[in-house]
Amino acid sequence: MEFAIEHVHGRQVLDSRGNPTVEVDIELMGGAAGRAMVPSGASTGENEACELRDGDPDYYGGKSVMNAVANVNEQIGPQLFGLDARDQETVDQIMIELDGTPNKSNLGANAILGVSMAVAKAAADQSGLPLYRYLGGSSAKTIPVPMFNILNGGKHADNTVDFQEFMIQPWGFDTFDEALQASVEIYHKLKSVLGEKGYSTGVGDEGGFAPDLKSNEEALQVIEAAVKQTGYSWGEQIFVALDPATSELWNEAEKKGKEGYCFFSSEPDRIATADEMIDLWAGWCDNYPIRSLEDGLAENDWEGWAKLTARLGDKVQLVGDDLFVTNHKFLQRGLDEGCGNSILVKVNQIGTLSETFETVNLAIRNGYTAVLSHRSGETEDSTIADIAVATNCGQLKTGAPCRSDRTAKYNQLIRIAEQLGDSASFGGSMWNK
Ligand code: PGA
Ligand code: ZN
Repeated sequence: MEFAIEHVHGRQVLDSRGNPTVEVDIELMGGAAGRAMVPSGASTGENEACELRDGDPDYYGGKSVMNAVANVNEQIGPQLFGLDARDQETVDQIMIELDGTPNKSNLGANAILGVSMAVAKAAADQSGLPLYRYLGGSSAKTIPVPMFNILNGGKHADNTVDFQEFMIQPWGFDTFDEALQASVEIYHKLKSVLGEKGYSTGVGDEGGFAPDLKSNEEALQVIEAAVKQTGYSWGEQIFVALDPATSELWNEAEKKGKEGYCFFSSEPDRIATADEMIDLWAGWCDNYPIRSLEDGLAENDWEGWAKLTARLGDKVQLVGDDLFVTNHKFLQRGLDEGCGNSILVKVNQIGTLSETFETVNLAIRNGYTAVLSHRSGETEDSTIADIAVATNCGQLKTGAPCRSDRTAKYNQLIRIAEQLGDSASFGGSMWNK
């Protein structure tokens, strides 16, 4: 009885962009509790689960989530009373059935996910286990290699850079601590490199700098300068990961009645074809140590994705974010059609923990890598750090080492690495050699 769910309570709180989001508290009969907060994207895939917002322009600009909160308190809570919080699949399935839609648009994926995560946290608390251990069991021990988004553009910043995320990935280190230290030093060095060039050092939504650069490629050049000036080796210790989020470029072209990829921040009249984009990425991969490219083409460009994968898939990690939306059905299509070799995993794209784990497992069973990820709108909730360790997926993308909504996840990894001590392995060892 001690694991039985006694109380479910939702409330509206704020995320890192100052927008309302759902927070859920769960209490169990044994006295344990779990709290979860739900993230929110800006460059969302069209097939993501539905984030329910109230749409009243006179209240938080239409972005309030009081209906989702009411669904937690009035619809979901009563259905879960007395259930064993360790039965995550049952809890999630009850919510999926209660919702009754394919994309959780009835109750809201934000309502469902808040409950799903809070239930797991309460069960972990009642078990006396840290969340990563509760979720992943005794084999959970891989501290992921972070993707640090140190330069922001696209829809995450108001600058001249079309591509959303320029990240560094510290693969060539033996421990998480060393990798973190190097990445933080590079982040601070980048600030001075930008300052010396007269660029702004204000930051975008994920804590990376958002300067008005002269070209997209200059982003790679300033990062290269920062890495080299810090004394780390470019292409051996430090690699680049990109997320140009090109569905946004596609959507901007569509708004102009064109098909292709519009460089909306730098050259709004330039529309590139998929082949031209692939040539651009291939050229960059020849000149810079790019190990990972996410959403290099748009979410509906499956044909382009197959070509991109044929061209670069044996040397670069090609991550599907908008393409797969953490949904096993879209991932299965990618597996069938040879699109990508990796999946970005965002809990709110699908809306429950069980479905998230199902998708990660499908990816890994089929030789795809999986990268756990935050959203551009985040909170102090650090559940994704624990999920990354629990799944041993080996990679976590959670922004710059700046702003508490991002550092909350890195700080949680510091704690987990400390707890695991010598039994921890760092994800870098998985693909370094
Ligand atoms: P989003 O951006 O959270 O705004 O969707 C992150 C990403 O595209 O990976
Ligand atoms: Zn993305």
